[in-house]
Amino acid sequence: MFVCLCRGVTSQAVVDAVAAGARTTKQVAKVCGAGIDCGRCRQTVRAIIDAAAPEAKRHKGFLRKS
Ligand code: FES
Repeated sequence: MFVCLCRGVTSQAVVDAVAAGARTTKQVAKVCGAGIDCGRCRQTVRAIIDAAAPEAKRHKGFLRKS
């Protein structure tokens, strides 16, 4: 499935970028180009990062209990 229409990047390419060590949308963009243009796909890229690398999941707020 295409995630980034501007760059023609698939969800598999994003998963591969995460497997290669990308943990932020900027890092994914650097590896495969997703999110570099209009940015509409960044939320989906973030969701893929969270699913593929749960340890990289961002915490909302800084007073989160663990
Ligand atoms: S859809 Fe990904 S940058 Fe536009």
